[in-house]
Amino acid sequence: MKNIVILISGRGSNMQAIVEAQIPGARIAAVLSNNETAAGLAWAAERNIATDSLNHKSFDSRLAFDEAMMRKIDAYQPDLVVLAGFMRILTPEFCRHYEGRLINIHPSLLPAFTGLHTHERAIEAGCRIAGCTVHFVTPELDCGPVIAQGAVPVFDNDTADTLAARVLEAEHLIFPQAVADFVAGRLKISGNRVIRSPDATVQNTRLLA
Ligand code: GRF
Repeated sequence: MKNIVILISGRGSNMQAIVEAQIPGARIAAVLSNNETAAGLAWAAERNIATDSLNHKSFDSRLAFDEAMMRKIDAYQPDLVVLAGFMRILTPEFCRHYEGRLINIHPSLLPAFTGLHTHERAIEAGCRIAGCTVHFVTPELDCGPVIAQGAVPVFDNDTADTLAARVLEAEHLIFPQAVADFVAGRLKISGNRVIRSPDATVQNTRLLA
């Protein structure tokens, strides 16, 4: 069994999609948060998954928080740490500690629109296609090797909210697939690229609404 620790900051719908996928060979060891009121924590606790939180505001520095979080995470001996809407910029120390076993989902087709407000920015830029990216995390924000992407159309009457909802459907498809491929050893990093074995589940996902 591979131990997975999932970090969230809020709703936790991606975490729920991963839990509900019941990935063979994977055990969701814990769901942790920087926000003790994150709705996803209650959802996980109801399913008897270990949960815990650490408030980043009670630490003097970004590094002090990350070190305390690392101690909590490492208590579960994770094979994989999953960032599922964890709204924190991570220190290089944190990224290096979990190098090769830390993945994130970002709501844009990277390398476009790193950072926040991706849907507003995609609409503002006149994009006709938007989407999401699962990637390995490196110290540079939203820039690590791409594992999987999901693409959706942008319609003329879209608002950031309607586009976000469409992208979220793609997130819920590709994130559990990426975790399953990692757990089964179907992903390898080569430089800044991910090599997917021929039987990998992650493919180029297109949702045509
Ligand atoms: C998702 O859109 C994810 O891509 C972004 O934050 C959102 C989290 O949603 N990083 P949820 O908490 O998984 O529902």
